[in-house]
Amino acid sequence: MKTLIASLLIAMTTCSTAVAQSACQAFFKKGADLYLEPQDTQMALFEPDCYAWRLFVALNWPSRKDQCGADPGKHLGAEGETVWEKWISKHDVFLPGAKAPATWDSHCGTVQIAKTLAPSAQLAAARTQMADQAGDLTPFEPPTGDASTAADEEVRMNRETLEFIASKRLYSRNEQMRLAAAKIKTIEFPAAAKEVKAHWVKLEDPADFGRYHIGKASDGTVYGLVGWHVTTKDLPRWFWATFEHVDNETRWPTADPGSFAGWSLKPIDRFACDGEAVDCGKFPRGIGLDGTKWENYRLKATQIDWVDSLGEPTIVVNSKIEGGFIQSQSSCMSCHALAMMGEAPPPMPFSIINLDIPPDSSGRVANFKGVVDADDRRPRNGVDPNQHFLQLDFVWSLRNAQPEN
Ligand code: HEC
Repeated sequence: MKTLIASLLIAMTTCSTAVAQSACQAFFKKGADLYLEPQDTQMALFEPDCYAWRLFVALNWPSRKDQCGADPGKHLGAEGETVWEKWISKHDVFLPGAKAPATWDSHCGTVQIAKTLAPSAQLAAARTQMADQAGDLTPFEPPTGDASTAADEEVRMNRETLEFIASKRLYSRNEQMRLAAAKIKTIEFPAAAKEVKAHWVKLEDPADFGRYHIGKASDGTVYGLVGWHVTTKDLPRWFWATFEHVDNETRWPTADPGSFAGWSLKPIDRFACDGEAVDCGKFPRGIGLDGTKWENYRLKATQIDWVDSLGEPTIVVNSKIEGGFIQSQSSCMSCHALAMMGEAPPPMPFSIINLDIPPDSSGRVANFKGVVDADDRRPRNGVDPNQHFLQLDFVWSLRNAQPEN
């Protein structure tokens, strides 16, 4: 009897794993509802690379005119703003004086004013202003050799992320500090929460305009999307994926070595490389990318855990967005685990640079990889390590929360 139950159990596990492992592929084969924003823990866990593309397709779907959400009547690759570009920007969530942000519906009621990427100077000014308002809040991490500049980066949140932040009043730095002082250890975003961080580059050659997803500044400057991070709360410690334009491999690093580090790690994509080496460097065929601007983007890698099944740290990096770091020593989850708030200022208490690993010859620094435990957390100058800290559920942008007036 025991043997029968055991073999039944084995059969059930094998069977459910087989089903789990092909659900995402089957979804693409069916080819319907590609534009629907997914929330699928099973796919995230069992088919992370395929799921990353499912997110890429749904969130980069052209959006409805003057509204939030995908336009099912349009095809992937059509001109105009995508779904995630209509999500709310962190600048509209973390307002001066910790004012409550707009509701999702009222935010979406104003998106008919097409988003224009501000020219560098304008954005840089906005950034400085934010930094001033934030007082001791360091406007940008990391301090050394970071390729990210105010001119080319945006962070956007979906409805569930906004509503969670609003309902818990996490847009207020005082509230975050109050929770820390009350010995609350962490917060927990809902499963449908998602965030995107994107980097853009100025395009001057019109021949590029069709090869990139583009955005126009109010002065007519054209920007092309070069880096795209997405995180979703499908998993308790989030699902992580990052994409890059193929020109990041050698073209931009040659033209602008200060901002582009080039690919020291090849893309790893088990979905696009089905049946080939996982670093084949291709985009997945037959999911709507072929012949569009999107065929020039590659999934660099996904991350679903800090370590692999052998206990080795997992490494995932975007050569543009984390260009200031040593790529072979970089992990999305490990750095984001350091997003914490103390009960007393300064608000970001721990260093994200791993000082045990020396900088490389180009001055790039290492961040943390693998599990970041209490001993790894190095308090910054002036931080009392004995105070209580609130973990911000891996969401770094919460550090932009402003003090109440
Ligand atoms: C060394 C630290 C570090 C590493 C490594 C890192 N990030 Fe981040 N990330 C940040 C910081 C800091 C911010 C907040 C920027 C801001 O305040 O606007 C951020 C913001 C984000 C956001 C916007 C949501 C949020 O948490 O605020 C996403 C999405 C994101 N990162 C994804 C990734 C992915 C995917 C990877 C791995 C490929 C990664 N990050 C690696 C530090 C890091």
